[in-house]
Amino acid sequence: MPDPYKLTRIPSLKTVDDFRRHCASLGLNLPCEDEIVSGPNSPLAQPIPSVTINGKRIGNRFAVQPMEGWDGTTTGGISDEMLRRWSRFGESGAKVIYGGEAMAVRFDGRANPNQLIINRENQSGIASLRQVLLDSHKARFASTDDLVIGFQLTHSGRFCRPRDKKRLEPRIAFRHPILDRKFGITDDSAVLSDGDIQELIQSYVDAAAIAAEIGADFIDIKHSHGYLLHEFLGAHTRTGPYGGPFENRTRILREIVSGIRRTGNNIDLGVRLSAFDFVPFRPDPALSSPGKLGPGIPEDFSHCLPYRYAFGADINNPVEYDLTETFAFLDLCAELGVKIVNLSAGSPYYNPHIQRPAAYPPSDGYQPAHDPLIDVARQIDVVRQIRARAPKGLILIGTAYSYLQEYLPHVAQAVIREGWTDMIGLGRVSLSYPALLADAIDKGALEKKLICRTFSDCTTAPRNGLISGCYPLDKYYSAKPEFQTLKEIKKQTGA
Ligand SMILES: Cc1cc2nc3c(=O)[nH]c(=O)nc-3n(C[C@H](O)[C@H](O)[C@H](O)COP(=O)(O)O)c2cc1C
Ligand code: SF4
Repeated sequence: MPDPYKLTRIPSLKTVDDFRRHCASLGLNLPCEDEIVSGPNSPLAQPIPSVTINGKRIGNRFAVQPMEGWDGTTTGGISDEMLRRWSRFGESGAKVIYGGEAMAVRFDGRANPNQLIINRENQSGIASLRQVLLDSHKARFASTDDLVIGFQLTHSGRFCRPRDKKRLEPRIAFRHPILDRKFGITDDSAVLSDGDIQELIQSYVDAAAIAAEIGADFIDIKHSHGYLLHEFLGAHTRTGPYGGPFENRTRILREIVSGIRRTGNNIDLGVRLSAFDFVPFRPDPALSSPGKLGPGIPEDFSHCLPYRYAFGADINNPVEYDLTETFAFLDLCAELGVKIVNLSAGSPYYNPHIQRPAAYPPSDGYQPAHDPLIDVARQIDVVRQIRARAPKGLILIGTAYSYLQEYLPHVAQAVIREGWTDMIGLGRVSLSYPALLADAIDKGALEKKLICRTFSDCTTAPRNGLISGCYPLDKYYSAKPEFQTLKEIKKQTGA
């Protein structure tokens, strides 16, 4: 058996020069500054100059990314864990916060039976989540006048588990030659009809009304990660008004926006987009053994070329991206009056390495087949290309910075200074260390023991029916009995 790839771990790179040398050895062009700049001169402390959201000027250049929760009530209501998470996100200092999590627009669209649902029944609960966030932000940062809170609205499509943590109840845009087999779809019953889509659009319009009443500064209409609206962007093989040409594949977004505006709701709009996608990956069976996941390799796609089952993938070689339609989609967003686009990639369910680069895989993933910095640099560079092309009035947020660890502030400062993105979005590290960039700006230094090491426990836990959280680094979760269960699961799966 050949030796698997040996990873150089970021903490072993002791200086910025070591980090730079390592990037150079990988052939990566990742900008990186020598020092963390503290105080008002930090590029990360600068407000967004021209565009306002809900009349507010965004006070700095970093955002807490949307991350779905697994810890609400079974009716999609709030819990103490949620209140804690929203409060911690308020303490992050980020001036764009995607609530504390993604909200399902209706019951059947939940990724898990404990995901928040944005409906009338849960309205006052969600309002108290927002208030907790505002209060905690105000306590540390004095003002909330330059803080904008977005509610991410979602339907999980192929990856819905509304009733049972272990049972998928998929709702899909089209039959997929690889994903259907991987996730057990054998007939057309899960495919949404055009009539179903009309109902779905109404659910988004209703959710947007509730978001506006609660006081969200914007809503984010999620088009990422293999979830429903992202899947529709790749519905080349679907017939009828919502499949086939680009105009049809983007019709749902246009109809959601016109539906919202028709009701007189002027809430500001955002979109999260998987800017590119690849085929699904799996652990290499030749390098896997019981209790040990092999490195990721692409699923065999030779039988489905040209590959017309994704958005932003090269149809002739779908382990490469093609941004042609991505650019067109950004133009469409601008035409529709969307103000803030949050760029991500792929899906955590079928190609997690391009989505959230990690040193340690989740239990349903695979070991890194190459240095995850390559995947970080790919996302950063794609955002650079999009920034260079996209209408200037759109605020762009880039993703996949957590893997940078100690060097996150150095790279983030450089990327902002170079104008490669408008804002830095922080996902996993916001669970372990919400105030990482606030500390960088205030103190010029980080608390090392809180830095996310991409152990993937926050993904492995929910994949196995446990609540999500940073079990290794956040004492609130380390103290829970679930942490022992999680360790057992990791031992068995080799994650
Ligand atoms: C536990 C967890 C839940 C997530 N849920 C969502 C979600 O609901 N919506 C979304 O757009 N992204 C979600 N993401 C993806 C993150 O927003 C982010 O894109 C990803 O973690 C990569 O950024 P990072 O490297 O900073 O972690 C989730 C990530 C994690 C770890
Ligand atoms: S569990 Fe904690 S350390 Fe691991 S990836 Fe998630 S946030 Fe990072």
